Amino acid sequence: MNYNVQYAQYLDCIEKYLDEACFRYDTEPQQELFESMRYSLLAGGKRLRPVFVFDFCRMCGGDWKESVAFAAAVEMIHTYSLIHDDLPCMDNDDYRRGKLTNHKVYGEAIAVLAGDALLTAAFSQIAEANFPDKCRINAVKVLAACAGECGMVGGQVLDMQSEQRQCSAQEVIDIQSRKTGALIEAACVLGVLAANGTPEQIEAASKFAKSLGLAFQIRDDMLDVIGNEEELGKAIGVDSLKNTFVQLYGLEQCENLVQEHTNTALNALESFDDHLFMKQLAENLVKRMK
Ligand code: IPE
Ligand code: IPE
Ligand code: MG
Ligand code: MG
Ligand code: MG
Repeated sequence: MNYNVQYAQYLDCIEKYLDEACFRYDTEPQQELFESMRYSLLAGGKRLRPVFVFDFCRMCGGDWKESVAFAAAVEMIHTYSLIHDDLPCMDNDDYRRGKLTNHKVYGEAIAVLAGDALLTAAFSQIAEANFPDKCRINAVKVLAACAGECGMVGGQVLDMQSEQRQCSAQEVIDIQSRKTGALIEAACVLGVLAANGTPEQIEAASKFAKSLGLAFQIRDDMLDVIGNEEELGKAIGVDSLKNTFVQLYGLEQCENLVQEHTNTALNALESFDDHLFMKQLAENLVKRMK
């Protein structure tokens, strides 16, 4: 299978699902909430986390299209995290995915509530997915652990609290692993669960995701310096008070670190038979400009 064709199929599947299935309740009066949820959810983005769900499902022998509810769940949590991340009380950003941030359009109260509703809806997606109970319960456990107080939300708190003080390298790795790596891990593991994969496959998916998540966030920190706002769809130069990998190591060493962590991730892929798509994706992310 050609890489671009496969990526396009994954994108098409998640975009259609999100557009058709989500937040169109014509009879409900809270239309502004639905509009705000759809505004951010359908604003594009790379859809990497759904792609991780789909491709881990495929690599484990599952029918990847059947994992679309899990893919949507992770993307909803990711989108909610971005809406909240951009709020004035957090990173205070005006642009996201090439559009005004949610609170700039709908106001802070609706933006907070749209995030809350997306987070809640993610768990509905899993509860209602067409998988055996055990699979859905495991998926809820993984997603809750990765997104919650010890995962993504915990990482966001540490990220905020560490502003204006110098963190050690280990602390920065811990913050970034939680705020970004954890949800990537949830995506990869949910893909395995959707295919009823083995404990060994879950372990390998976690290992892959932990390293890839670090590589991904180091590159995100680099893009705050070397990126182009138009291409990225968000402002650059906004991380000056943060403990980023760039501040710790400088750009050049960051480039090496992205490659090193990606290599570790690639090693974890070896146990999956048909891993060429994921290998190519991980390699492409090393030099991504958006
Ligand atoms: C941005 O994530 C936030 C981070 C976790 C670094 P992405 O770079 O995946 O954003 P989208 O989904 O493509 O907009
Ligand atoms: C955001 O990290 C991570 C989450 C949303 C959980 P950043 O604050 O670095 O993401 P960007 O740069 O705004 O996309
Ligand atoms: Mg942030
Ligand atoms: Mg931010
Ligand atoms: Mg960033």
